[in-house]
Amino acid sequence: MKKIFILGASALQVPAIKKAKEKGLYVYALDYDPEAVGIKDADEFLCISTIDKEAVLEAAKKYEPDYIITSTSDMPVRTVSWVNEELGRKNDISYENAICATDKAAMRRRMKEKGVPIPEFHVVSDEEAFLEAAKKLGERFVCKPADNAASRGVVLVDKNSTAEDELLKIYAYTKEYSRSGEVLLEEFMEGPEVSVESFTVDGKTHIITITDKMVTEIPFFVETGHTEPSRLSDEVQEDIRNVARVAIEAVGIENGPSHTEIKVTKDGAKLVEIAARLGGDFITSKLVPLSTGVDLIDCCLSSTLGEEVKWQSTKNAGSAIRFLFAKEAVSESGETGDAAKTILSVTGVEEAEKMPGVTEVVIYKKPGDEATMLKSSGDRWGHVIAEGDSAEDAAKKAEEAAFLIRFLTN
Ligand SMILES: Nc1ncnc2c1ncn2[C@@H]1O[C@H](COP(=O)(O)OP(=O)(O)OP(=O)(O)O)[C@@H](O)[C@H]1O
Ligand SMILES: [Mg+2]
Repeated sequence: MKKIFILGASALQVPAIKKAKEKGLYVYALDYDPEAVGIKDADEFLCISTIDKEAVLEAAKKYEPDYIITSTSDMPVRTVSWVNEELGRKNDISYENAICATDKAAMRRRMKEKGVPIPEFHVVSDEEAFLEAAKKLGERFVCKPADNAASRGVVLVDKNSTAEDELLKIYAYTKEYSRSGEVLLEEFMEGPEVSVESFTVDGKTHIITITDKMVTEIPFFVETGHTEPSRLSDEVQEDIRNVARVAIEAVGIENGPSHTEIKVTKDGAKLVEIAARLGGDFITSKLVPLSTGVDLIDCCLSSTLGEEVKWQSTKNAGSAIRFLFAKEAVSESGETGDAAKTILSVTGVEEAEKMPGVTEVVIYKKPGDEATMLKSSGDRWGHVIAEGDSAEDAAKKAEEAAFLIRFLTN
């Protein structure tokens, strides 16, 4: 029986762990968290941090897995590349390129070098350089940590309404989320945002679908919904596909999935970022199969095992996810938003589940949990997923169902 290391056993990784089992592999799940939900689906659990590359290498020498992969998590992408390189194995992406795919500063530098359309950017690691860079940018700019995810520490800054001491507070807030200590300042790109799911086989990239993304804007960016296929014009979608292709090539993905985030500005499509892994937020695990019929998790494992990769669409439908968050909070005294502190109850879930097209309703919070305000994706309270004949139809169905769900808070 062939053995596989899967780095990460969080909920995002569960579909890959299950798929590897289905394919007859002996699965070792690696995670620093002994309570990780995916452990029960694996054959064996190794309590090792997925970013501790030396420890993963040591374990690989001891257990001798035939394959080492991760699925939807960002940082383990580096570890997998490094360990495969150390073991002299075939790699889907080199370690050097994996750094470019996981560190926003390295990524921006690589994209600039390769001529991929990107916003103006500056990388700083102290207050003085931060203020200097802020002067060079337009009225509004984005401040983000070089190496975090889930929009943690990402802030839109409006220079007109922000005094210097406030600017430094934003810098300190963002820097706290940066492991390397580097902070990026970027020109604010205005326009619709999409993500592109792709799969590369022996250097040839296949674009699976383009997803329209809904995000909160000012001042934090958090994803509140996704709809596919994109409803942007054919011409714009062609521009998006071209930017995704050059970004994938620039980052050097030889085999495997990629998730590319793009903003469509008045000057054309520009790259937000690219990840050499599957898209999260249920895009690849739920929305892509509903709208295209493609099982990207199967594609990943087939690619790893050297089997035929079935990336071709088998359907042309629509799918949508809508997240539930603080705006749904209503306190007993009728107040909304900031006044809310603790979730007391949730209603309307069963009704939402029965709505046409709805494929799932998941509530992440339980009574007694903090009624978190929406600053990063971890502050979302649940989601509704729906399928439809078209993107529009699926979006309408998901929104109608989400509307029925109410959170009562104190
Ligand atoms: N330069 C920019 N101009 C406009 N919007 C931006 C810019 N940079 C980031 N954003 C917005 O902020 C969001 C999060 O930024 P980014 O993807 O760089 O961080 P992240 O922590 O990797 O987030 P996630 O994991 O949610 O993708 C983007 O999806 C986009 O909506
Ligand atoms: Mg992102």
